Amino acid sequence: MKETVEIAKEVLKNNRRSGYTLPTNNKLYPAQWNWDSAFIALGYSYFNIDYAIKELETLITGQWDDGMIPHILFHDNDESYFPNHKTWECGNKIPSSGITQPPIIATIVKKIVDKNKLNQGQMKRMEIIIKKLKKYLDWFFNYRDTNKIGLVSIIHPWESGLDNSPIWDSPLDKVKIEENLKYERRDLNVSKSENRPLKKDYDAYITLLNQFKKDKYNPSKIVNESMFNVIDIGFNSIVIRATKDLIEVGKRFNLNFSDLENKIALSEESLIKFYKEEEQSFFSYDFKNHNLIKVDAISNYFILFADLGNKEINNKIISKLKKYNSQREYFFTTVNPKDKTFEETRYWRGPVWINSNWIIYQGLINKDKNFSELLKNKTLELLENKNFHEYYNFKNGDCLGANNFSWSAALYLDLKFN
Ligand code: GLC
Repeated sequence: MKETVEIAKEVLKNNRRSGYTLPTNNKLYPAQWNWDSAFIALGYSYFNIDYAIKELETLITGQWDDGMIPHILFHDNDESYFPNHKTWECGNKIPSSGITQPPIIATIVKKIVDKNKLNQGQMKRMEIIIKKLKKYLDWFFNYRDTNKIGLVSIIHPWESGLDNSPIWDSPLDKVKIEENLKYERRDLNVSKSENRPLKKDYDAYITLLNQFKKDKYNPSKIVNESMFNVIDIGFNSIVIRATKDLIEVGKRFNLNFSDLENKIALSEESLIKFYKEEEQSFFSYDFKNHNLIKVDAISNYFILFADLGNKEINNKIISKLKKYNSQREYFFTTVNPKDKTFEETRYWRGPVWINSNWIIYQGLINKDKNFSELLKNKTLELLENKNFHEYYNFKNGDCLGANNFSWSAALYLDLKFN
């Protein structure tokens, strides 16, 4: 039998196209996705550093003039996915979507630079990437931190990467669905409907998209006009960590990004206000409708990844996390099974996802070594038993969604060799 490591490498190589890699080769996602590519690059760094750098370079080629890196780049004219380039009608150099995704790429770049002995040419290429990432992070603070509190808003659930998380339920309920909305979903041709978002979610996704298109994706306009505007804990945790990591990796290249340090101080100060002692938890905030979103989702625990300097709060979060999926064979579910919104097999509303485990693992390493090792070993075991799928059932490890899923393979390599 083939070693899991070899299978992981094959998944990545088979999903690779010219200069970028698909999230899976089963037709569900026929394009390049922002945070998928970052995870994928990390996977490549364990066996082909040039593929890793190329993956990042290709993604960055799609950066908009204002600094945003889109959540999808459509490299060819494939129209089998919806919404495709014809729906979005935008892009710079490469047709793209008009929104972004979590900027995990900065953390990944730091990891790749830290762990590899890059030659001069590779260092030069990385330096170019890093400078563009500075522009990307500046974009978040310039356009998405409208109240100048150091926290950024997402204006579409797709930006979170956790498309149908129940965190978005109440803000989405208030989105006024466009009349006579017409579109044809393609995801249901290749995936089971009980594992995918609902029609009512898609109606809202497309309504929001159409509004942004009407505003020509003007970044100042769409953030103010969007019917969906959430200050999400998971997303902001990734932004803070990305900012810290970018400052650090910049130093290796004599790049001075110290202006970002003030942002971090402000972000941390603001973020802490979303910690609620009663539930021992952080909660996302519906900025549009002014209310706290009290769903016990795993992305609230991404706060550990942000590395806030507050030991007391970190410990409380960790002790709560220990109870989240206690006595379960497979964890972490994307939503706490005790939460009323939990759905065992529906996408981001319950199943176990490898990238969320990886983010939590990174957050635990320097805070609770034993717990982090447990999580790492459980995740490796799941992947060794079941191979590389999009998500998994927490009760029996059943494979859900797409197979040959790139980030599951890539993050396996990172967990295995770290
Ligand atoms: C889905 C996921 C998102 C991912 C994309 C491609 O939209 O929710 O996180 O980036 O698929 O895998």
